[in-house]
Amino acid sequence: MIRPLAPADVPALARGLAALPLMVRYGRTPEKLEAALSAALGRGEGLLVAEEDGALAGLAWFLPAGTLAMGGYLKLIAVLGAGQGRGTGAALLEAFEAAVARESAHAFLLVSDFNDGAQRFYERHGYRRVGALPGLVLPDVGEVLYWRRLR
Ligand SMILES: CC(C)(COP(=O)(O)OP(=O)(O)OC[C@H]1O[C@@H](n2cnc3c(N)ncnc32)[C@H](O)[C@@H]1OP(=O)(O)O)[C@@H](O)C(=O)NCCC(=O)NCCS
Repeated sequence: MIRPLAPADVPALARGLAALPLMVRYGRTPEKLEAALSAALGRGEGLLVAEEDGALAGLAWFLPAGTLAMGGYLKLIAVLGAGQGRGTGAALLEAFEAAVARESAHAFLLVSDFNDGAQRFYERHGYRRVGALPGLVLPDVGEVLYWRRLR
């Protein structure tokens, strides 16, 4: 089930996300993630979670419009460790696209240059690799820009 993030979800979600190798690489500790998610809730950003058997399984965090003055932006999609590879990411990506399509014709996202699995995932879902932003976040990592026309 995909549903909006609730304030009560934030501490456990932050702990689950912080355990992912990607979050460790970017220095996103449970404390930083909890503060960032709470602030994003306060700003009314797009925050959808996947719930499976009553437990949180993943997150899609996005801005529905405004990117390059044309589209939505997926800030973070992540499926908590044990649940990866079972279609939860696909369900979250589709929910993000449906929310964005109500306001924008385009979806954008950035993915780390080393994250081959996620790049395959996006390409399979119709995203095109359109550029790279070297050292944007971490000095030794390029952020690859992906784009999908939604309508
Ligand atoms: C990328 C991610 C969101 C995909 O969600 P998912 O539920 O695992 O994906 P699905 O089951 O819908 O699809 C499986 C595909 O996802 C990709 N994938 C990426 N990382 C994966 C992982 N650890 N396990 C399984 N599949 C993964 C692969 O392309 C896989 O297809 P394959 O069988 O050809 O390798 C998820 O694996 C994840 O959270 N990874 C860690 C965080 C991350 O990299 N987020 C993206 C940041 S830009």
